[in-house]
Amino acid sequence: MTDWNNRYQIGDTPWEKGRPAPPLLEVLGRLGTDIWGSRPVLVPGCGSGHDVRAIAAAGLSPVGIDLAPLAIASADFYPKAGDETYEKADFLDSGWREGKSFSAVWEHTCFCAINPSRREDYAQACADLIEPGGRLIGVFFLTPNEPGKEQEGPPFNSTISEIDGIFAPWFVREHDWVPENTYPGRDGQEWVAVFRRE
Ligand SMILES: C[S@@+](CC[C@H](N)C(=O)[O-])C[C@H]1O[C@@H](n2cnc3c(N)ncnc32)[C@H](O)[C@@H]1O
Repeated sequence: MTDWNNRYQIGDTPWEKGRPAPPLLEVLGRLGTDIWGSRPVLVPGCGSGHDVRAIAAAGLSPVGIDLAPLAIASADFYPKAGDETYEKADFLDSGWREGKSFSAVWEHTCFCAINPSRREDYAQACADLIEPGGRLIGVFFLTPNEPGKEQEGPPFNSTISEIDGIFAPWFVREHDWVPENTYPGRDGQEWVAVFRRE
């Protein structure tokens, strides 16, 4: 199992790009802010919070959570961009979820960080936390696993049909596209999808 806090401790953080995910800026540019709803937006596995601050700068109220205390310390170190907050928490902890509700969840490199055996727990967390009519908006790491080969990760691979299937019990897909703007090296490996909570 990955010791995420240790990876921050030793500086083994290849996902850390120092700026928000280009596909997030694309989503905000293409779909605007209404689709995110009027209540707080949850960003699970927020790392240093670059996406959180971009969402706050767009006028929304994001809550970034991460189970690594050093990630939260790094996120907290940045100047405020708007109405953002951070909390050390495990997205898969059903106790933490109790009584909480968000109008949207932004997914970026948390789904692919979680062991595939826990993907249904990830989907259940989204279903529990997103209010009816709210949305799961995400950019997913999209490459198929080689048949017969054990998944090696993180990041763990996924496919569109797998992602659709995992969220289908609670969500309907409304939008999807391959982002034009990505971090260098991720071209053609990512997929933006917007799912509405039924
Ligand atoms: C690959 S990193 C991505 C961080 C950030 N999204 C980014 O792109 O810069 C995955 C992050 O998810 C966090 N994480 C992994 N499992 C988690 C969980 N169950 N709940 C909350 N955070 C989690 C890790 O600590 C790590 O910061």
